[in-house]
Amino acid sequence: MKSLDPLRRHGLFDARVPRYTSYPPANHFQNDFGQRHQTDWLRAVPQDKDVSVYVHIPFCKRLCWFCACRTQGTKTLRPVEAYVAVLLKEIETVRRTLPPGIRMARLHLGGGTPTILPCGTMAALLNALFAAFERSADFEFSVEIDPTEASDELLHLLIDAGMNRASVGVQDFAPPVQKAIGRRQSLSQTRHVIDLMRGQGVASLNLDLLYGLPHQTFQSFEQTLRHVARMRPDRLAIYGYAHVPWMSKRQIMIKTADLPDNETRFALAQQAREAFVAEGYDSIGIDHFALPSDSLSRAATAGRLRRNFQGYTDDQGEVLIGLGASAISRFPGGYIQNATATSAYQDRVTSGGLAAHKGYGMTAQDLLIARIIEDLMCRFVYDEPSLRDRFPEQAALIHQTGISLMTRFADVFYISGTGLTMRAETRPLVRIIASHVDTFASEATAHSAAV
Ligand SMILES: C[S@@+](CC[C@H](N)C(=O)[O-])C[C@H]1O[C@@H](n2cnc3c(N)ncnc32)[C@H](O)[C@@H]1O
Ligand code: SF4
Repeated sequence: MKSLDPLRRHGLFDARVPRYTSYPPANHFQNDFGQRHQTDWLRAVPQDKDVSVYVHIPFCKRLCWFCACRTQGTKTLRPVEAYVAVLLKEIETVRRTLPPGIRMARLHLGGGTPTILPCGTMAALLNALFAAFERSADFEFSVEIDPTEASDELLHLLIDAGMNRASVGVQDFAPPVQKAIGRRQSLSQTRHVIDLMRGQGVASLNLDLLYGLPHQTFQSFEQTLRHVARMRPDRLAIYGYAHVPWMSKRQIMIKTADLPDNETRFALAQQAREAFVAEGYDSIGIDHFALPSDSLSRAATAGRLRRNFQGYTDDQGEVLIGLGASAISRFPGGYIQNATATSAYQDRVTSGGLAAHKGYGMTAQDLLIARIIEDLMCRFVYDEPSLRDRFPEQAALIHQTGISLMTRFADVFYISGTGLTMRAETRPLVRIIASHVDTFASEATAHSAAV
């Protein structure tokens, strides 16, 4: 981009807006909603629907200072074993509540560190999942891998059990950055797990990187990008570091003064984008890259890219079943989140119930806004004709929202065959635009109710 002024004018360097991995974002979920709806929504899953399953393992042997994920440190495996025993019980309760014959199309183990599980415990967890859910013909199984906490034996076990995708945490290879974020991870450890998985035929490997970390410089980041490009992952997620010490207490170890300012963060993100596009990667949404041969890139080209709690995905499933503490499930009617604290989660399950706590029931308007925001985040379009086809009863709001976007963001959109499309150089503004749609729709409804 020749000038950053248009981005600056629209607040790119000042605004605080959600990442919109769901709509509404999880901080809008209501207390105790989940308990009232989880059983009904599980029972109502149509028998012919394939579901996706997410299992959360909220434990790590080391707690990296930068990390905002829902996890806790442990020195021994005792709490991990106890947790998995409860997970097995939850899997059984969910299986009994669902109609029979539901098939699992996708399984994702996330955390925390799923690879903290000893082999026997991991085998027990997978056996329980595979006994509860028949696997669909095109079953995909992915796992988040911390290279410093993944034994060869465990990786072989996962691969033998069908793991065909893996997401490997890297963040940054520069020693001063690693020191400042409390995460030591060598190049050789990382290469070892990648070579092992690739050698055993794991079809799609993703690496996670972060920009905006303390002491990250253009020179040091260039080295990291070069190392990563040499590893030739199929996918990359390059997230902006979210410094939220009021939510994630361990981040107080990171000095605010050591963080790059917002304009430098933006330039680091651009540096990564340019490097990976030059290496032949397709840019996917706001923060992912994929080789053209990868299914994420093919989904993006075909207009089938979706957004979920893991970022971008080609998963088209309507039902996601979240298992474990804090895991979120998605149903056609809304979201359910399990109790967040491990102890509260365990109490609910061991007392014979499901683990839901928070949740959210989608109104017709929420479904429309969720669709608009997903279209923006995945395709950078406001696709008015298809929105009208899909939500005919909300044609007035769709029209008003289009006018509001064109008025407020006249220099961002151009009129295209599918409605409004964002100019390529304005794409970094997409979360701000999504937030505008979010606010505009609630205000428009409030106003029409008042007259
Ligand atoms: C749940 S973590 C699991 C990674 C795995 N335990 C590991 O260490 O490799 C998944 C990813 O979330 C991202 N992440 C964690 N904290 C973040 C933060 N504060 N801001 C942005 N992304 C973050 C990191 O890129 C990380 O790889
Ligand atoms: S980055 Fe991974 S290993 Fe580090 S604290 Fe977060 S989940 Fe645990």
